[in-house]
Amino acid sequence: MNGGARRPLRFLVTAGPTREAIDPVRYLSNRSSGKMGYALAAAAKRYGTVVLVSGPTALKAPPGVKRISIISARQMRSAALRACRGADVIIQCAAVADYAPSRPSARKIKKSGATLTLRLKRTPDILSEMARLKKPGQLLVGFAAETNDLERNALGKLRRKRLDAIVANRVGLSDVGMESDENACVLIRSDGRKSRFARTTKTRLARMLLKELLKEKFR
Ligand code: PMT
Repeated sequence: MNGGARRPLRFLVTAGPTREAIDPVRYLSNRSSGKMGYALAAAAKRYGTVVLVSGPTALKAPPGVKRISIISARQMRSAALRACRGADVIIQCAAVADYAPSRPSARKIKKSGATLTLRLKRTPDILSEMARLKKPGQLLVGFAAETNDLERNALGKLRRKRLDAIVANRVGLSDVGMESDENACVLIRSDGRKSRFARTTKTRLARMLLKELLKEKFR
């Protein structure tokens, strides 16, 4: 555990999508399967204790990991902010919806006109809130899911959200990234240094990412 000599680390990992209710039977969401976050939680278990805050997925919790299941971005916010207080390492891999219906209907919306306009409002930026609450010594890692200008956009998020590191992840491809069993990414640190990880299984990538992150912060 944790190289033998160190105390076990406490991890908070988030995974999966959030669902934002439109009415009692419909929601807005995205295609995150949770696989990347669950692979990170399983890999983190080798270094200490893990709380996994998870949106709806078909996956089983990795052995020994404490899973807290949530549905919406608001629920993820309260579970994650509570859990982040006691964490040494926070990895926000969840695909949190950026917008939610501003007034979900209490009743199923009836079909009427040829078009329907949904009014959306921004969800809370959980990662930015975590950065504001961050304690000395905590390691805060975000993900950036990008279809274009991968590294430039990820670097912008790293700076705006005041993170220690960000994992830049190309999405929108059919056979790698979101939903797939495989992924490739670029880890960018706050000082601008980059490590590139070629396409591999999410299980293997998670192990390599953690090794890289932990070697710097807790050596
Ligand atoms: O689940 P899989 O199918 O395995 O796919 C994995 C993945 C592609 C979902 C994952 O690797 C990934 O890239 N996760 C981040 C998805 C995302 O929401 O990226 P973003 O660029 O929109 O957001 C940037 C960061 O801000 C993320 O860490 C996100 O969790 C966080 N965020 C976003 C919105 C919000 N309201 N609060 C947040 O904390």
